[in-house]
This record gives sequence, structure tokens and C-alpha cells, in this order.
Amino acid sequence: FKVPVPINEPVLNYAPGSAERSQLQSMLEVFRSQEIDIPMYIGSEEIRTGNKKPLNPPHDHQHLLGYFHEGDSSHVAQAINAALGAKDAWEKMQWEQRAAIFLKAAELIAGPYRAKINAATMLGQSKNAYQAEIDAACEFIDFLRFNVQYMTEIYAQQPPVSSPGIWNRLEQRPLEGFIFALTPFNFTAIAGNLPAAPAMMGNTVVWKPAYTQIYAANVIMQVFKEAGLPDGVINLIYVDGPAAGEVIFKHRDFAGIHFTGSTGVFQTIWKTIGENITRYKSYPRIVGETGGKDFLIAHKSSNAKQVATALARGAFEYQGQKCSAASRAYIPSNLWEDVKAYLMADLQSMKMGPTEDFSNFINAVIDEKSFDKIAGYIDGAKKSEMTEIIAGGNYDKSKGYFIEPTVILSKDPSSTTMCEEIFGPVLTIYVYNAEHFEEALELVDQTSPYALTGAVFSTDRYAAELATYKLRNAAGNFYINDKPTGAVVGQQPFGGSRASGTNDKAGSMINLLRWVSPRTIKETF
Ligand code: NAD
Ligand code: ALA
Repeated sequence: FKVPVPINEPVLNYAPGSAERSQLQSMLEVFRSQEIDIPMYIGSEEIRTGNKKPLNPPHDHQHLLGYFHEGDSSHVAQAINAALGAKDAWEKMQWEQRAAIFLKAAELIAGPYRAKINAATMLGQSKNAYQAEIDAACEFIDFLRFNVQYMTEIYAQQPPVSSPGIWNRLEQRPLEGFIFALTPFNFTAIAGNLPAAPAMMGNTVVWKPAYTQIYAANVIMQVFKEAGLPDGVINLIYVDGPAAGEVIFKHRDFAGIHFTGSTGVFQTIWKTIGENITRYKSYPRIVGETGGKDFLIAHKSSNAKQVATALARGAFEYQGQKCSAASRAYIPSNLWEDVKAYLMADLQSMKMGPTEDFSNFINAVIDEKSFDKIAGYIDGAKKSEMTEIIAGGNYDKSKGYFIEPTVILSKDPSSTTMCEEIFGPVLTIYVYNAEHFEEALELVDQTSPYALTGAVFSTDRYAAELATYKLRNAAGNFYINDKPTGAVVGQQPFGGSRASGTNDKAGSMINLLRWVSPRTIKETF
């Protein structure tokens, strides 16, 4: 079988007067005017526990979008049983049929669900229309289409030699047991891909999203169901993370985790799995993409305007709440005044406000906990003698969790905001002696534990090559003369190492291979 050749979903531009803009605006109005009641989805059941928790837009936290029904450990056990119960039939289904379900899901998002999934992401996670479009629509569609292509390539892999009278073959079995998909708030595409990728390979899944992502997760589940996903293949539960982990990680049939989230949570989970290792039938697959402290370093030969634009977009799109966001920059002394002037001009043009107004570039951060954490970093920078706030620095949570895009100049390359993941609209810049590029590269490599994304700007080929080599372990996604965000599925497989994850490259064959356990069969005639 050959599957349809995957193409990247074209990004719609939502220009004023366009059909897509008016559809999206209508959907936003519908969503704002109703109070939705979101159940958990376990097996064939929609479960309403009566323990209702409110959902509010981060940029308008007094507005009620609806409720979700929170579950407890009994629902985790129920979801595991549903996943195990659905496994046999799903595993036996021809892979072409599984592929067709996920290709259909991609078409549903590209068409009838596009406005719905984008509107849910805009209201639930406070993404502007353009950021929602590249995430919830395009990246999610791309994950599904490209993974189907990789799936066919995996199934096609066979041992090259069978001697006469013998047939050697490789059977790609799904893992024995169930998979736990644990997803973060910041990308709808990741929320969809984390359960979908293992499911595509014949596994069944218990999926727990971040609570701040449930509004969009509910739409994803509707898409999967409408595409024909059998009951029990993906079970969506809303249970407190540690409480869910308590049941999942002690279960004999726990076969693997597909995680994206913070480094601390992943490390806790890894330790828990280690403590329970003797309980499991097999060694569980542990796949996790975690935090980042992503860098941009400019060489003295680079173009100041390009560097400033890359910083403005890389640091502040989606309020810096991208694992890939440029949050530390190393600028050579010869370029600093120009970079600063261009960056300040870019910041002037960034309007801040609710997502429903399409002219706003900056919206709110996800919740009060994040707001307080980010504000704490800004306050720390205000107090320190080594750091100076040169743009932004104000915040206000009276109506929504709004924080101005903030630029900190640090005299110390090891200052807190230069090294720790802040996950908000905060960029820290260190100006280095333009003649000491190699020393600056050393700082980039050594002052943060993360290694997710990074960028070098240089018109000098030798300097770019030097950076590429010296920073070979500092980023899983490395950009030469581009911002460190915006990886596209099928073009730049995404993932980091060191404290940033297991680097199993989301949206690639490497990732899908983690969800199968091959069996070699030798048949003698
Ligand atoms: P988080 O770690 O707080 O939460 C991730 C998920 O884990 C959520 O569903 C949460 O409820 C759950 N969880 C939290 N504590 C748990 C526990 N003790 N046991 C079991 N489950 C638990 O992350 P977040 O705030 O939702 O997302 C932001 C983080 O995700 C950032 O650190 C960001 O860098 C990272 N991220 C990484 C990538 C990547 O590809 N590397 C992509 C997106 C986000
Ligand atoms: N794909 C997202 C980016 O690269 C995470 O920014």
C-alpha cells in the first residue's frame, strides 16, 4: 500500500474580510455565548462526575466558558481497563484502517473543525488567531499526515536476506499493555499527537491533558470520534496529575509514557517508574520532551535588523510560552546599539490584549500560577544590581493574566533569568565583547542545563560552522540565521536532549518506533 503523499497544511492568513476570519469570529462568538459541559471520555461512556470545575479564558478570567467534570483514581482505573479492553481488536485491525482513521481526522481539522479547534485554543489557552492556526490546525494536521507516512515506512522495513527455503520477516507489534499520554497546556497539536502517535501504531491510550488545555482537548476528542476511532482506543480523563500517576505507574500493564511538559515533572515520573520497575511486564518506554532555555547568539558579522526581528518573534510569540522560545540572547558589542534600537521599535508595534481582537499580538499567560512565577522573575531582575529592565516589566492580573513583553539586560551571563526556564514573555540579553565569539559560545553551552533549540546569526561562514560544532550538544534543533521557534513537521523534526528530553523527535519515524516492539520471525519451509 502507498498512503497519500503528505504535504504541510497551508497556513491561512486570516486577513480582514477573509472567509476564514469571519468563520473564526463567528465561532468565537458562539463559544463565548455558551456554557459548555465537558465530560471525560472512557470507553464508550461520557462521564460526568458532578465535580465540576470552571473553564475561563486566561485573558478574561471572570468569563465562564463552561465546566469540565473532574475524576478521581477510580476513573483512572476505569480508563486503564477500557484501554486494555479495546486493545485486542485495535491491534488486530489492518494498519491501513488505522491510518485511514487518522487521515480522516486530519481532513476534519483542515475543514469542518478548523474554526472550532482554533477558537477553542484562542479562548482556552489565550493564543492569537495566527498562533492558533499554526498550532491547532496546521501542526496537528501535519503530525497526523506525516506520521501515517512514517508508519508505512516502519511496516515496510524487513530483513534484507532470506536464504532459499527460509522466510525471515519482522513484525512490528504494538507494546504489550497501555500507554499513558500526559500533555502540557501550551500546544493543541502536542495534545493531539501524544495520544495519536502510539494509537496509530496499534496501542491503546489513557490521555490526561493539563487542566488549562481541556477546552481544546474536548474538540480533539470529538474529531477522533467523528473520524471513526473505536471506543476505548484513546480515553480522555481529567484527574490531578500525581493522583493519576499513583494508579498508572503501579499498574502491571503500564507499557510506556508519551510526555511533554516540564523537566521537574518528567524527572519525578522517571524516578517513580524506576521505583516500580519490578511490577511491570516489560520495561516501559519513556518518551519525554521537556523544558528549554533556548538561545540566540549573534556573530559580529550578522545583520542587526534580522537579529532583532528574530528576537522579537522568537521570544514573544505566544507570550514566550513555547518550549522553543528564545529566552536568552548573546549580542556582540559592535551590534548592540543597533539591535536594541530595532528591538525596541518591534516591541512598540506589539499590541497586548484579548485574543478576540485580531490586532493583538500579545495575549495573556496561561494562569495565575504562571503569572505569579513570571512576575517573580521580573521583580528579581528589578532588584538585582546585575540586571536592568530595558523594556516592559509591568504586569496586571485584574482582568486577565497580562504581562508586558519584557527585556532584561544582564551584566552577568550566569544570572537567574539568563539560565532558568521562565516560560513567559521575558528575554534576557548579555552583551559580549565582539572579538570573543568563542568565549561567548562557551557560555551558551555551559550556563544552562537545557538543550532544546538555539540559533546562530552570522554572515561569516566560518563563524557559523564554528558555532554549529561548538554547540552540537546545546540544542536538538539548531537554526542558522533564523529564530529558534517554528519547527515544521516533516521539515525540522523536533526535540532536545540534556534536561530538555529524550530527543525522540516529535513527528518523525524515530518517535513512532518507540511505540512498537519488533518480533523477528524465521519460517523454514
Ligand atoms: P507541566 O510539567 O506542569 O505539566 C505537564 C503535564 O503533567 C500536565 O498534564 C500536568 O497536569 C501533569 N503533571 C504535573 N505534575 C504531575 C505529576 N507529579 N505526576 C503526573 N502528572 C503530572 O507542564 P506545563 O506547564 O503544562 O507545560 C509547560 C512545560 O512544558 C514547559 O517546561 C515547556 O518547556 C514544556 N514543553 C516542552 C516541549 C518540548 O517539545 N520539549 C513542548 C511543549 C512544552
Ligand atoms: N514546533 C514548535 C516550535 O518549534 C514547538 O516552536
